[in-house]
Amino acid sequence: MMSFKVNGQSKTFSGDGDMPILWYLRDELGLSGTKFGCGMALCGACTVHLDGKAIRSCVTTIASAAGKDITTIEGLDSKGNHPVQKAWREHNVPQCGFCQSGQIMQAASLLEDNASPSDQEIIDSMQGNICRCGTYQRIHAAVKTAAEMASKNLTGNSGKGGVNTIVKNREL
Ligand code: FES
Ligand code: FES
Repeated sequence: MMSFKVNGQSKTFSGDGDMPILWYLRDELGLSGTKFGCGMALCGACTVHLDGKAIRSCVTTIASAAGKDITTIEGLDSKGNHPVQKAWREHNVPQCGFCQSGQIMQAASLLEDNASPSDQEIIDSMQGNICRCGTYQRIHAAVKTAAEMASKNLTGNSGKGGVNTIVKNREL
């Protein structure tokens, strides 16, 4: 029997500790916002936070969450108004949307560690999150806007000024 929290709620689990966190979130809790992409820590679609740090839930065992806090896209902000989520809306980032919860969780973790990342730091942090639709330029711009929002405590209706959208396309 192990215990941990998911989006602030206490949970216990007595099954196979080797089960990936992603399986537990989607199949046992019905938290389907976190996606399965590659299952091999290669795409970032399954990114959630474990004690505030971005992890790939497809390759992280549920046993490793014992005593810790898991946060999924559903729990990032109760109203979906985390600065990263506001910035994502402002920039209309998603296309098909499949990769986006992972992208948002990765970006939120980055800004938690580094409130004012440089262009290169954004690229370095986000490069493990693959988007088959190629929304990378909007992702990059939205991360910068989110950082500006967080630093200025804005409401999400402004912050486009100064956004640097000059970032090279990356290849999948
Ligand atoms: S599904 Fe976990 S990294 Fe691709
Ligand atoms: S928006 Fe379609 S995979 Fe990223």
